[in-house]
Amino acid sequence: MKDEFLKAALISREDQVTDVVLAAMQNTDDARLKELMAMVVRHLHAFVIEARPTEVEFEDALRWIAGLGQATNESNNEVVLAADVLGASTLIDLINNNGMQGETMSALLGPFYRGQAPHCANGDCIARSDTPGPSLYFTGRVTETDGTPIAGAKLDVWQASPVGLYENQDTGQDDFNLRGVLHSDDEGNFSFASVKPAGYPVPTDGPVGDLLRAQNREPMRPAHIHFIVTAPGHKTLITQIFSDTNEALVGDVVFGAKLQIVGDFVEHTQPDPAYPDATLPFYTCNYDFKLVPGTPTYPVPPITGKTS
Ligand code: BEZ
Ligand code: FE
Repeated sequence: MKDEFLKAALISREDQVTDVVLAAMQNTDDARLKELMAMVVRHLHAFVIEARPTEVEFEDALRWIAGLGQATNESNNEVVLAADVLGASTLIDLINNNGMQGETMSALLGPFYRGQAPHCANGDCIARSDTPGPSLYFTGRVTETDGTPIAGAKLDVWQASPVGLYENQDTGQDDFNLRGVLHSDDEGNFSFASVKPAGYPVPTDGPVGDLLRAQNREPMRPAHIHFIVTAPGHKTLITQIFSDTNEALVGDVVFGAKLQIVGDFVEHTQPDPAYPDATLPFYTCNYDFKLVPGTPTYPVPPITGKTS
């Protein structure tokens, strides 16, 4: 009798494990957590059964995952970076934001959004320390999909310097350099000055870098500026506006570059009275953001500080 009971309850073959684990999670109160964890277990077990890893491979994989946590700190988020280079972040972005209602196309948040950036007036420069590189004057409008202006929209902006580093990675840049928060005016217009962003490699000194090297992948991202655009009664837009050659756009290591969000970065080689203080050559970019009705949300910053 006892033997029969134990025979049914204990695992003795690989094809019994999934059902026993699913049964152990049956009492989860939160219905969504229960559903998600059941899917995780089914897919994870199916992967393991298909891949049939050796014990050494399993230990290596666990060490790689532990390394993601060990390489994560206030100025670097290796876990987010891993999700990004595996394409998971872009997939989740496209599942939740597909641009089908006429709104501006979105792009992944990335690991370098800090939050708490200084507020700027329209026209202010977001370069807070001497940042060599050509000037960029960015203008645009926040509207509904039918073009109706949205006044008072908040635009949270951040970008890498022309040498390809975010201020959190670079002790040579002041705190919050190339980061700022703006608001659209009564006509929905916004503007800021900056420097032209450059393409850059994602951090490669942690476990993600080890993986990219093992896969013979280039770590590059095409030049872009990040935006989070929010307004009361509207769905939050998280996106990036890209500027680069076709070639660099195609090789984005985190699969974020999309045709709809390539901006027109115009080079100016002659003085223009509209930009009396600009040193030649300088660049302008105009890009309008369209929002759809919805409930605003705000991402939790993946990092909070700067390398000191
Ligand atoms: C970024 O655009 O800042 C970024 C996105 C994914 C990985 C690394 C950086
Ligand atoms: Fe970026």
